[in-house]
Amino acid sequence: MSDVALSKDRYAYLWTRSSIEAHANRYSTAVSSYEPYAHCLRNRYFYDTLNNLITHNNIEVLINFGCGFSMYPFLLENSLHYIEIDKPDVVSHKKEMTTKWEIAGELPHRNISYVEADFNRKSQDKLYKKVLALKNGRKSFILLEGVLFFLGREDMERLFKLFSKLQGPGEYLASVSFIPQLEKQLVFKSLIEYVEGNLEKNERFQYQTVPDDFYSSLEGYKLLDHQDTLSLSALYMPNRDIPEEEVLNEHMYLLKK
Ligand SMILES: C[S@@+](CC[C@H](N)C(=O)[O-])C[C@H]1O[C@@H](n2cnc3c(N)ncnc32)[C@H](O)[C@@H]1O
Repeated sequence: MSDVALSKDRYAYLWTRSSIEAHANRYSTAVSSYEPYAHCLRNRYFYDTLNNLITHNNIEVLINFGCGFSMYPFLLENSLHYIEIDKPDVVSHKKEMTTKWEIAGELPHRNISYVEADFNRKSQDKLYKKVLALKNGRKSFILLEGVLFFLGREDMERLFKLFSKLQGPGEYLASVSFIPQLEKQLVFKSLIEYVEGNLEKNERFQYQTVPDDFYSSLEGYKLLDHQDTLSLSALYMPNRDIPEEEVLNEHMYLLKK
């Protein structure tokens, strides 16, 4: 919501409460003051990518794994079916609030299915069956945005196998991750410190970075586009200078089965 003209997220403001704003401020002060800008760029990239595919009738259902509080269903076409997947507490809060806002007329009505999941589980059979039934043979776009950092390698491989089982030829998959080279930068070290400092007692955290060739060699998929925060900044805000070493540079990959 820090720059709606850039992000195109005209509903993010609905989530603001002073406690959330204080948390966001604490986070950008500790990690990088460019984080709000980077999030606006990321949202805009997927907003434009999805809109473009919808206009050409290439997708009928958006499946957002680790949807968090992003607002794509309300920013995009009514004609799509939206499947929002996350941990039970996130999904139930999001469902409760968005339903309330739909009834109050603050959000447009959308066809949304909320699914509870835990991507750390060894078996994702139940999740597979649930999503397959909801997808119901329609052309999908699977989005995995801002999630991989929090998962282990095995969880990630299990998820990508699940995506491949769910999708048929011509369907789309998009993923966001950090490349291993970023680990050397101070800004990444600040992120790790921040996350570890906010963990519950006894909670363990193993972050994950993903090399480009994971995507370029992903079986059954072709890499269509690869962007990062810096390339998106040059695309959407060509006159804005940003110091590269202060940006938590995320990479966005768009693939087609
Ligand atoms: C940084 S947020 C990103 C949210 C959203 N995709 C976005 O880009 O704004 C990461 C999300 O991944 C979810 N997540 C992390 N680990 C998960 C797990 N093991 N199972 C299910 N969801 C998980 C979190 O609950 C959170 O909503």
